[in-house]
Amino acid sequence: MSYDPNGKVVLITGSSRGIGRETAVLFAERGAKIVLNGRDPARLAETVERMHSFGDSVWSYPADVTDPEQCRAMIDAVIARYGRLDVLVNNAGVSMRGAFADLDPSVIDSVTRVNILGAAYPTRFALSALRASRGSVVFISSLAGVRGFAGVSIYSAAKMALTGLAESIHAEHHSDGVHAGVLFLAFTENDPDKTIMGPDGAPMRITRKASTTQRQAAEAVYRMVERRTRKTYLTASGKYLVFMQRHFPWLTDAVILRSKGSIHRARRQNSSQ
Ligand SMILES: NC(=O)c1ccc[n+]([C@@H]2O[C@H](COP(=O)([O-])OP(=O)(O)OC[C@H]3O[C@@H](n4cnc5c(N)ncnc54)[C@H](OP(=O)(O)O)[C@@H]3O)[C@@H](O)[C@H]2O)c1
Repeated sequence: MSYDPNGKVVLITGSSRGIGRETAVLFAERGAKIVLNGRDPARLAETVERMHSFGDSVWSYPADVTDPEQCRAMIDAVIARYGRLDVLVNNAGVSMRGAFADLDPSVIDSVTRVNILGAAYPTRFALSALRASRGSVVFISSLAGVRGFAGVSIYSAAKMALTGLAESIHAEHHSDGVHAGVLFLAFTENDPDKTIMGPDGAPMRITRKASTTQRQAAEAVYRMVERRTRKTYLTASGKYLVFMQRHFPWLTDAVILRSKGSIHRARRQNSSQ
C-alpha cells in the first residue's frame, strides 16, 4: 500500500530554520500535521507565520532537545494535542570546525550534547507513540558520520553515534513496526545567517559551496519515511565515499590525507570576508 502522509503527525526537531524548516514545509504540503521545534520561541513564531498558508496544521513547541524533561514534556504535549505521533525527525544539530587539539572542552560538550543526546532524548520519549502508530524515526546525520575528516572530529564522532542508535532501535523495535532510518547529508545549502562553532566556541560562517539544496535534503527525509529506508547517502560523491570506504579504506585514507584538511574549510565570523 502506498504511503499516505495525510493527517500524519510529524515532529521535526530544530525546524525553526534550515533543513528542518524545509522538511516541515514539504510534509505540510503533502497534508501532514507539523510540530515545529527549536529553542527560540520568537524564531519559531516567525516560522509558524511563514507557514501560515497551512493553517492550524502547523504548531510549534519550544524545547531544548538536550534537556530530557523538556523532551518528555514536548512529546506529552504532542500526544495531548493530536493523540498520536507518526514521524519523529531528529534534525536539531550543531556543527564545528577546528583541529581536535585546539578544541575548547565546551565545544566538545555542546556538539556531543546537541547531536547525540538531542536525538536520543526525543526518541526515548517518542518510542511508545511510534510503536502505537507503527511510525518512523529519522536521524539526520552527515557524510562526516560515515568517515572522519580533519577539522570536524567531534561532529563526526557524534554523527557516527546516531548510526549505532538507529541500528539498536531497529533491532529492538522492528518487530513492533517502528522504522528507524539515518540520512547522511552532503554539504547542504545554509540559511544566510547560519553559523557553526569555531574551536573556541565562537560562531563561524561556512564558505564551502553546497552540493545539495534544502529541498533535496527534505525530499530525502520524505522518501526515507515513505519507503521505510534504513540508510540514505546523499549525492553521487557521498555514495562514492561509502563505496570507497567499504572496499578501499587505504585509498580513502590516502585521498583524505592528501587533502590536508581542505575538505572542511571555514572562516571566522568577524574575519575579513
Ligand atoms: N547544512 C549542512 O550542510 C549539513 C550537512 C550535513 C548534516 N547536516 C545536519 O542537518 C541538520 C540541520 O542542519 P541545518 O544546517 O539546517 O542547521 P541550522 O540552520 O543551524 O538549524 C538548526 C536548527 O536546530 C535548532 N537547534 C539547535 N540546537 C537546538 C537544541 N539544543 N534544541 C532544540 N533545537 C535546537 C535551531 O533552532 P534554535 O537555535 O532556536 O534552537 C535550528 O532550528 C543538523 O543535524 C546538521 O548537523 C547539515
